[in-house]
Amino acid sequence: MDLLQVEVLYNREQIQEKVADIGRQISGDYRGHELLVVGILKGAFVFMADLIREIDVPMEIDFMDVSSYGLSTSSSGEVRIEKDLEYSIKGRDVLIVEDIIDTGLTLKFIYENLKTRNPKSIRIACLLDKPSRRKAEIFPDYVGYSIPDKFVVGYGLDYAEQYRHYPAVCILKPAVYEK
Ligand code: IMP
Ligand code: MG
Repeated sequence: MDLLQVEVLYNREQIQEKVADIGRQISGDYRGHELLVVGILKGAFVFMADLIREIDVPMEIDFMDVSSYGLSTSSSGEVRIEKDLEYSIKGRDVLIVEDIIDTGLTLKFIYENLKTRNPKSIRIACLLDKPSRRKAEIFPDYVGYSIPDKFVVGYGLDYAEQYRHYPAVCILKPAVYEK
């Protein structure tokens, strides 16, 4: 990790404990059920890989990729499905796994879209939440950390596709993007 560019917010061990915690909660809540875990690409893939190994109920996994379109650099709320789920979710217990909720517009779209496909239930697990930035009403069921309004990278999260492989969640130093 280039510590001139980032500052560690949560290290590998802290994240590991938190993810195990969330996994235990989910295992308890879904005891006797079978899950369909839906990861939102690309950011959620590291969190999802760790989380599913902490969940002790039968499951299948699938992925969705969406992108915001519109002129603004932050979420516009107009979302397009770039890659849809492979399988039907009708009658399934769906758990959406997301890296971070910022304005909530992306997840709101995904949630409403999946709801129309008649799943038995939908819940949301996200590692990070920036509640102060919320524009859409969306309430995650499992949250790792609520964080202040700072741009974070690592553990799957990127800035311009960089830093996803960093094992820690890090604050990106503003100097990097204010250049
Ligand atoms: P929302 O629609 O504003 O909630 O946008 C959520 C998406 O924006 C996440 O899935 C991330 O891809 C991205 N995002 C929001 N905040 C950050 C951040 O601090 N670091 C990296 N990506 C972020
Ligand atoms: Mg994302």
